[in-house]
Amino acid sequence: MPRQSVKVRGILAEDLDNICKLYNDNFPLSPWSKKSFQNFLNDQNRSPLSLLIKDSGKIAGFVLGRCSKTHPEIFNLNTLLVTEAQRGKGYARVLIEKLVAIVSKNENIKQITVHFRDNNQLESFYSRLGFSGHQIIGTYSDGEAKHQMEIISN
Ligand SMILES: CC(C)(COP(=O)(O)OP(=O)(O)OC[C@H]1O[C@@H](n2cnc3c(N)ncnc32)[C@H](O)[C@@H]1OP(=O)(O)O)[C@@H](O)C(=O)NCCC(=O)NCCS
Repeated sequence: MPRQSVKVRGILAEDLDNICKLYNDNFPLSPWSKKSFQNFLNDQNRSPLSLLIKDSGKIAGFVLGRCSKTHPEIFNLNTLLVTEAQRGKGYARVLIEKLVAIVSKNENIKQITVHFRDNNQLESFYSRLGFSGHQIIGTYSDGEAKHQMEIISN
């Protein structure tokens, strides 16, 4: 499917079983329940945002983010996932570009931040998508380095 004709929409209640399975298959170290997704998406105080792309009737990828609880001017990109079969088609770029466009309209948000584990490929991946300011800001509970990159929004 050509990138410009891809339809992006928010995650709906009917998507949650599939989203939950995709998430837990891809991130088995930090499983989420359906209830966790519901709570995330319903917490309006933190301006949650979800976007999803389908290809051939199936979820091809999604992104989830919301504002930090302690620093509401920071929007955290919590999850970005494109299914293995659909990678390399530009779907992650479509999702991130749309997310940045929507979040940038909120003048209270100054920065979009992403955190990730030790993985140089993600550093170059997020650079390609416009993130910068790479730094290691600490470690995860298992001792692995915690990397941060950001996009200045407003
Ligand atoms: C990382 C991931 C989201 C990329 O999705 P994708 O749809 O294949 O990415 P795109 O096709 O939109 O690629 C966007 C750009 O990043 C590049 N890119 C894609 N995967 C990359 C990788 N692993 N390393 C470096 N660059 C990468 C592409 O070449 C493309 O560059 P360009 O537009 O400048 O030519 C996907 O591989 C994935 O879901 N991985 C598992 C989960 C994960 O690591 N999520 C991110 C951290 S939470």
